[in-house]
Amino acid sequence: MTEAENKRSLASSRQTQAMDPCLAQAGVSVGFDQRLAPQDLAGSIAHARMLGATGLVSPEESRLMVEGLTRLAEETREGTFPWDPALEDVHMNLEKALTDRIGPAGAKLHTARSRNDQVALDERLYLRDVIGQVTKDLWDLRASLTAKAEAVGEAPMPGYTHLQRAQPILLAHHLLAYYQMLKRDAGRLRDLAARLTEMPLGSGALAGTGLPIRADWVAEELGFPELAANSLDAVASRDLLIEFLAFGAILMTHLSRFAEDLVLWCSTEFGLAELPDSLTTSSSMMPQKKNPDGAELIRGKAGRAIGNLVTLLTVVKGLPMSYNRDLQEDKEPLFDTVDTLALALPLATRLVEGLEFRLERLRLLADDPYTAATDLADHLVRRGEPFRVAHRQVGALVAHCWAKKIGLRDVEPEVLVSFCPKAEPQVLQGLTLEALLVARDKTPGGVAPRLVAERTRQAKAELAAEKERGRL
Ligand code: ARG
Repeated sequence: MTEAENKRSLASSRQTQAMDPCLAQAGVSVGFDQRLAPQDLAGSIAHARMLGATGLVSPEESRLMVEGLTRLAEETREGTFPWDPALEDVHMNLEKALTDRIGPAGAKLHTARSRNDQVALDERLYLRDVIGQVTKDLWDLRASLTAKAEAVGEAPMPGYTHLQRAQPILLAHHLLAYYQMLKRDAGRLRDLAARLTEMPLGSGALAGTGLPIRADWVAEELGFPELAANSLDAVASRDLLIEFLAFGAILMTHLSRFAEDLVLWCSTEFGLAELPDSLTTSSSMMPQKKNPDGAELIRGKAGRAIGNLVTLLTVVKGLPMSYNRDLQEDKEPLFDTVDTLALALPLATRLVEGLEFRLERLRLLADDPYTAATDLADHLVRRGEPFRVAHRQVGALVAHCWAKKIGLRDVEPEVLVSFCPKAEPQVLQGLTLEALLVARDKTPGGVAPRLVAERTRQAKAELAAEKERGRL
């Protein structure tokens, strides 16, 4: 086959005119889908072996193909492969290179295969490959949060709702809240991995094939437990990618909230924590600045991850069955989320590791003059006051204190009883910061130091078990 024939046979058979350059330019994907080369070649190698084993090609042709594809795998790995945009995508580039190198046998590789089922397979293999790395990066971040929680021990901090000081909590409890979110994120990724069972090759362009292939052999070689149950679904669906992007969007949203906490904590106004110089930047104009750019970048990059999810949902939502070329637009959002996670997760881990808390100040702010208000109301409830009545009485007492510029604990017993007739006169003296914290022990997720220590141990055990089960 001549060079020109080879290119033409790969490109189009029906067209009698050269492709309009505008269409050619819009259709080129090799600039980004070359990232699928390892998966594309692994799929082709399994396919070529199957073609030989079934007799669809001769054993010699199959051997030549596998050898040629293996060489291409090396070249693409080393970065020496000459990608050609004129050949549109990763699939045609590799197939043409194979035919160039091994001759006519190369032209048999695409037997019983379409790029539609080929790309569906490549993407499943790719997802399987990246899930391992993301799971590991996510594990590291969860481990850094539990290590930090352990390191800060029983240090109290003010807890917020509406960004208003609400009740005292433990700093470890705040950190472990993120551990819980990230644990669910890891679970979402595991769910997705468990759903990546169907091998789509053999679905052809959309309807399967009449050639006597053995897709089950390909599935076995590539480690898929089953074959696609519906060929239209196999080439047309992208919900597994969408699921990954949804996972990425949710995870980045969690990291973004954590980043926002860091930005606030490290501000002069809050002054709750500090980052090491190595994790901050200066200003090009103001030499005194120490900016938490790492946290801000994570917060900013969450936008991309959310955008990538919306992009793919939007691409897919209006497509008639089955394959449509719109689906080629699935790759850039996928790769972008993979790249974003590869940057954001290790960066977040470094930020957690580097955080230095100002524990004295955290304690001071946690010991707010009014945070005992809820506990005072609870005390009245224990003594028979309906909660709404207790709430009103304590609210009036706080207003009184506020006007007098005194804290709750400075209220004289007679004044207390005048606002809250059912109150034990000495109750306020007992409502110390420690007492407030220790009291929150009636639900397993409460902030009592005993429970937080238990949750920390549990988180560490979960991480160890995951490591043990080889999920990393
Ligand atoms: N590059 C294409 C994609 O990613 C491969 C499939 C092309 N199929 C087709 N019928 N034009 O979707």
